[in-house]
Amino acid sequence: VHAWRRAPVVEAAPEPEPVEGETLVAVEAAAVAHIDLTVASGTFAFRPELPYVPGTEGAGRVVRSGRFEPGTRVHVRGGGVGLRRDGTWAERVTVPDDALAEVSGTAPRELAATFFSPCVTARAALDEVGGLEPGERVAVAGAGGAVGAVTVQLAARSGATEVVAIERDAERAAAVPDRDGVRVVHGSAALEDLEPVDLLVDTVGGAGLAERVTSAVRPGGRAVLVGYVAGVEASFHLPSLLAADVRLLPMNLIRWERRLRPAAGGLLDALERGEIELPVTVVRLHELPDALERMRAGAVRGRLAVLTGDHDEGSDT
Ligand SMILES: NC(=O)c1ccc[n+]([C@@H]2O[C@H](COP(=O)([O-])OP(=O)(O)OC[C@H]3O[C@@H](n4cnc5c(N)ncnc54)[C@H](OP(=O)(O)O)[C@@H]3O)[C@@H](O)[C@H]2O)c1
Repeated sequence: VHAWRRAPVVEAAPEPEPVEGETLVAVEAAAVAHIDLTVASGTFAFRPELPYVPGTEGAGRVVRSGRFEPGTRVHVRGGGVGLRRDGTWAERVTVPDDALAEVSGTAPRELAATFFSPCVTARAALDEVGGLEPGERVAVAGAGGAVGAVTVQLAARSGATEVVAIERDAERAAAVPDRDGVRVVHGSAALEDLEPVDLLVDTVGGAGLAERVTSAVRPGGRAVLVGYVAGVEASFHLPSLLAADVRLLPMNLIRWERRLRPAAGGLLDALERGEIELPVTVVRLHELPDALERMRAGAVRGRLAVLTGDHDEGSDT
C-alpha cells in the first residue's frame, strides 16, 4: 500500500531480514479482513509507515529463527504485524517471535491462516467480555458474517437456551449455521417481536446499534460491540440508554489476543473436526484488489484468504 485509501499493488520487494528476537516466515496463506481495510484507510489508531505490506494474520513455515526449528508450521498474529510493521500479504514476512504459535500441521492452510480472528473474537465476546452464563439467551447481529456465524455456533455450544441470529434479509439469513437452539430473524421488524435477551453480540455497529442495544437487551443485560460494517459512527439518545440499563462493552482482539492464544488451538481442532463451520474463500495475490472490493461491498461469505507464495491452486473450504 503506497497511499491511504488506495488499492494495494502487487510488486517485488527485497526479502525481509529478521533481527534478534524475530523469525522469518514463508507465508502459505494470509487472512484478508475488515481490519486491513481499516488500517489502509489511514484513520485507525495504528498507522504503519507508508509504503507498507498489509495483513494482520496468516500461516506459514519457519525459514530462520532463534526460537523455532526451520520448517515448523506457525500461525502469525500480533506484535504489530500489519498494524505497525509489514504484514502477511507477502511471500515472506519477519515477525517478533512472540507473535508466532505452532499450528496444527493437518489444518488446511487457508483455515490455519484465517480462523484465529473470528473464533477467538467470538469466544471472548461471549465469555471474557460478555460474561455468558449457562441458561442465558443471546442475540447476535451480523449472524451470517464470519465473526457472527462463529459466535452463533459457540453460543449454542455454551449452554445458551436460545440464540437469536439477526440478519438483514432472508437471503443472507441462509448463511447462519443451522444449529439446535438457534432462531434466525431478519428484516427491519426483527426486533419488534423479540423478547429482550441477556447478551447481545453486535458485529454490525452503525446507525442501528442504538436501537439494538436499547430494545433487544433486557435491563441489566450486556451488549458487546465487536464491529462496524454498517458504519463507524453510532448515536445514542442518552436518556433511553440509561433507561435501558444495558452495559455496552467493547471487544478489542488486539488487547486480548495474547491472553487468549491458548484457547485458539482447541478452536482450530473443533473446526478441523467439523464441529464449528467457517467457510473460507481463497484468492491468489493478483486477485486481491478485486477481492477487497467484494469484501468492502459485503459480497464475501465467511473469511477471505490470499495465497501469497508459489503454491499449487487453492480451493474454497
Ligand atoms: N473488535 C474486534 O476485536 C474485532 C475482531 C474481528 C472482527 N471485528 C469486526 O467485526 C466486524 C465483522 O467482521 P466479519 O469478518 O464477521 O465481517 P463479515 O463476514 O463481512 O460479516 C459482516 C456481517 O454484517 C452484516 N452487515 C454488513 N453491513 C450491514 C448493514 N449495513 N446492516 C446490517 N447488517 C450488515 C452482514 O450481513 P449481509 O450478509 O447482509 O451483508 C454480515 O452478516 C468487522 O467490522 C470487523 O472489523 C472486530
